[in-house]
Amino acid sequence: MRKKTVFECKACEADKSQPIEVEVKSEAAKRLKIGIYFATWWALNVVFNIYNKKVLNAYPYPWLTSTLSLACGSLMMLISWATRIAETPKTDFEFWKTLFPVAVAHTIGHVAATVSMSKVAVSFTHIIKSGEPAFSVLVSRFLLGETFPPSVYLSLVPIIGGCALAAVTELNFNMTGFMGAMISNFAFVLRNIFSKKGMKGKSVSGMNYYACLSLLSLLILTPFAVAVEGPQMWAAGWQKALSEIGPQFVWWVAAQSIFYHLYNQVSYMSLDEISPLTFSVGNTMKRISVIVSSIIIFHTPVQPINALGAAIAILGTFLYSQAKA
Ligand code: 3PG
Repeated sequence: MRKKTVFECKACEADKSQPIEVEVKSEAAKRLKIGIYFATWWALNVVFNIYNKKVLNAYPYPWLTSTLSLACGSLMMLISWATRIAETPKTDFEFWKTLFPVAVAHTIGHVAATVSMSKVAVSFTHIIKSGEPAFSVLVSRFLLGETFPPSVYLSLVPIIGGCALAAVTELNFNMTGFMGAMISNFAFVLRNIFSKKGMKGKSVSGMNYYACLSLLSLLILTPFAVAVEGPQMWAAGWQKALSEIGPQFVWWVAAQSIFYHLYNQVSYMSLDEISPLTFSVGNTMKRISVIVSSIIIFHTPVQPINALGAAIAILGTFLYSQAKA
């Protein structure tokens, strides 16, 4: 009788522990996968930012360089689909219709950030862009009617205050550069919210979703780029940049375009797995690596008070993530 009881108890323990162990392992595997995505995304982004700024310093045509980044990514994906390296997504009219507002937001956010970086230091653009969580809360509150606990609103104080302090103490402040980063924040928050909604329950993977987004954004952006800058300015500027930099200028343009696509592709693969909030926070953490590396590489002069502003804004993002969690 006693023996039986012991046996039953063991059987019951074994039944319960197996699924828990499997769950813990799959959770750990998921975390590892997201960790790898994040590390790759940040590294690719640092490289993109460096080449992007090198190109813009020599060739200040942000509308064209933005278009080239999208064109390069679109071409890479069309080749991947044609050669079956990547599975061609199955899409319908409804898919493209839902994607359209996302593509408009992506196009605006991309051009605005590039225009910003053509006017100010990379680090300054990214300090202002670290205020993205504040835009996320304001958009969710006023456009989507979501409400948040007071701690979330309070966490916006250091984010907004830190960005403001960094802006007023920036040595090479430029209004177009500042506004570009602000517009980019607003547009990318909308893009991330709409993207997550558009990706939910769809058979299109994060990678293919971003590829379709690139193609549509390219179609939207091209006529505007031609209207704002145009082939004549591009050709004259190209000759000048080539004569000043030499043939490696072409490689810089290729690198900024390829790395732009790669980092965005990986970031969308992450977005596929996480919430827009976690994405926003991960994106702000990414900016720390971009800010530090670009200051070192471009010898950007930074005043201590300016660095303090950036640090407060980034600390605010941590507080925000805690408050949201
Ligand atoms: C762009 O050109 O799209 C921006 O540099 C992207 O900024 P992100 O760091 O928000 O992706």
